[in-house]
Amino acid sequence: MSFAVFKSIGAYVPEKILSNEELEKIVDTSDEWILKRTGIKERRIAADGELTSDLALKASIKAIERAKINKEDIDLIVFATITPDFLCMPSTACILADKLGIKNVAAFDISAACSGFIYGLSVAKAYIESGMKKTVLVVGAETLSRIVDYTDRTTCVLFGDGAGAAIITASESRENAILDIHTSADGGYWDFLVTPLAPKGVEGGICGSHIKMKGNETFKLAVKTLASDCVNMLKANNMESSAIDYFIPHQANYRIIKAVGESVGLPDEKVVLTVGKYGNTSAASIPMAINEMYETGKLKKGHLMLLDAFGGGLTWGSCLSYFDCE
Ligand code: ACO
Repeated sequence: MSFAVFKSIGAYVPEKILSNEELEKIVDTSDEWILKRTGIKERRIAADGELTSDLALKASIKAIERAKINKEDIDLIVFATITPDFLCMPSTACILADKLGIKNVAAFDISAACSGFIYGLSVAKAYIESGMKKTVLVVGAETLSRIVDYTDRTTCVLFGDGAGAAIITASESRENAILDIHTSADGGYWDFLVTPLAPKGVEGGICGSHIKMKGNETFKLAVKTLASDCVNMLKANNMESSAIDYFIPHQANYRIIKAVGESVGLPDEKVVLTVGKYGNTSAASIPMAINEMYETGKLKKGHLMLLDAFGGGLTWGSCLSYFDCE
């Protein structure tokens, strides 16, 4: 039997920084409100013409180098995004394969909003454990600034752009492997987070849509679901929270993260917070946070990570995995 191993990580963010002070000049908001309610100080914004696949390419190159593999070894690309380069086709995974110069690779996108990276890991794990693929590139990348309405203060302060990528490889040993992944959804809450299509006949076709969110309702459900998800994951694997080296959740709001960390019994130093620097980057937020921990030398080979995400759909998922990158 093959096991899936979290072999490496990479990330990239665009150069342009959009601060809370700059947003104060665009909408009726304040640095104080944003910081107090969300923990966000600034976010990154893609340049004109800089596409989701461009951010993903830079993150993927780092992940490939760190995994010490040849790009030709990759036999599957799973790309999680809600801001693809093209509306319906081709997939951003195929664009990325072309930009990486890889031929003969299975490649497709998945749409699970902020839970996309964990959904992507679950696909990689299943392909590897079934023996169908051996080396999977899992990407979470977004240019959310393209679907944010900068006249809507309830959403525009929250989101940012960025990309993260991981190489997942097959191993014959369960040592340092991805131990478990749970994914789920409740479509009954589909209207909590939506990007409605423009009506038929409107100039510009169905593009030009923006994120709309029932923020407060989403907040309450996020705290409840993420906390029970973590508890269930630990229970299913007969583990105490003390076994976790780092809890790396989706970065939407520091208040959600703190509340979940506390209810799971994790001390602050084990709870990873990057939302202040990047805002909510949806599918990119978890791999970006893992990368931050790796590049600052805190996350090391053999550490046990608990990943947890919640997003539009509504979707959610958690992952218990060792980190196996030197
Ligand atoms: N600046 C100033 N005031 C604001 C702003 C702003 N940017 N935005 C909202 N307000 C006001 C509201 O109008 C409201 O005013 P009122 O009381 O006069 O009506 C007041 O602040 C409180 O608004 P709430 O929405 O109740 O504020 P809340 O404390 O819930 O914080 C937030 C809002 C930050 C959006 C929070 O609800 C949240 O983080 N929600 C969860 C987001 C999330 O996890 N999403 C899932 C992933 S995203 C994805 O999948 C793509």
